[in-house]
Amino acid sequence: MKRRVLYFCDHGRDWGWLDHFQPRLPGVEFVREEDLGSDTSDIEVAIVWNPPLSVLQKVPTLKLVHSLGAGVDAIVRLMDGLPDQVQVARLVDPVMAQRMSLYGIATVVHYHRGLDRFDAQQGRQEWKPAFRLDAADYRVGVMGMGYLGTHVAQALGGVGYHVSGWSRSGRGVERVQMFAGEDGLGPFLSELHCLICLLPLTPGTRGILNGELFGRLPKDAVLINVARGEHLVEEDLLASLDSGHLAGATLDVFRHEPLPKGHPFWSHPKVRVTPHISSLSNVPTAVEQIAQNLERFWAGETVQNTVDRVHGY
Ligand code: GLV
Repeated sequence: MKRRVLYFCDHGRDWGWLDHFQPRLPGVEFVREEDLGSDTSDIEVAIVWNPPLSVLQKVPTLKLVHSLGAGVDAIVRLMDGLPDQVQVARLVDPVMAQRMSLYGIATVVHYHRGLDRFDAQQGRQEWKPAFRLDAADYRVGVMGMGYLGTHVAQALGGVGYHVSGWSRSGRGVERVQMFAGEDGLGPFLSELHCLICLLPLTPGTRGILNGELFGRLPKDAVLINVARGEHLVEEDLLASLDSGHLAGATLDVFRHEPLPKGHPFWSHPKVRVTPHISSLSNVPTAVEQIAQNLERFWAGETVQNTVDRVHGY
């Protein structure tokens, strides 16, 4: 008899995962919620993206919930409703790190080289060269120095930017000036031209991108949020842009996705919107990584890239 694994992927992110999983794990039957049946006691593993608690609760014997992405906040926030034995694992994929690094470089270069300003000048058929800072004098700060944050910081340093990082622990990262904890936040923010948020979403970081934090950034700084929409207090960002304090924001993630039609971000002249594409999961490498992790679990070995339940990342 085949092993059964619960599969749940919310709309918009189901990129044919099962077409890749099925040939890689031929001995496994991937079961969607509607096909679970009344007896789920044989199921110990779920692979998911944005699962409702009610789906996971249909399988009280779950022991491992594997994310189909790098983020696990949508799973960790359900932990109180899940049995203690449940482990949560995430993707840690070099392809995703490279994708995020390229998005970071492209967006930082856009602001540093004033490309938005030249777009506007083109619209007015205006030829007006402008002097920009050297990259080494353009200060980029990355909040959240986990796997992706570290890669982005090092990639930006690699193309010549002055890069600093902020994290809870301030753990040292080669070629990055590190700041730690609440005490380090003010000094970290006070000298930035560009702030990139790559924090995990936890109760401690929800709403961290707020008016108070924006006030600690220098005038004309820009924000790039590639972490989660819930890090950002949207009204505070709009107020900081409209008052002229912040010069721009590039947002890839939103409180409600897809970003609702008519939302002020769509048409704000200082906001650039991308549809949560900064670092999409790469299906072939993700499937291989998850398959290997499932095989480890079934062999009684240690599952890789699990999340600390207390810290939530
Ligand atoms: C995307 O946001 C991910 O967490 O993989």
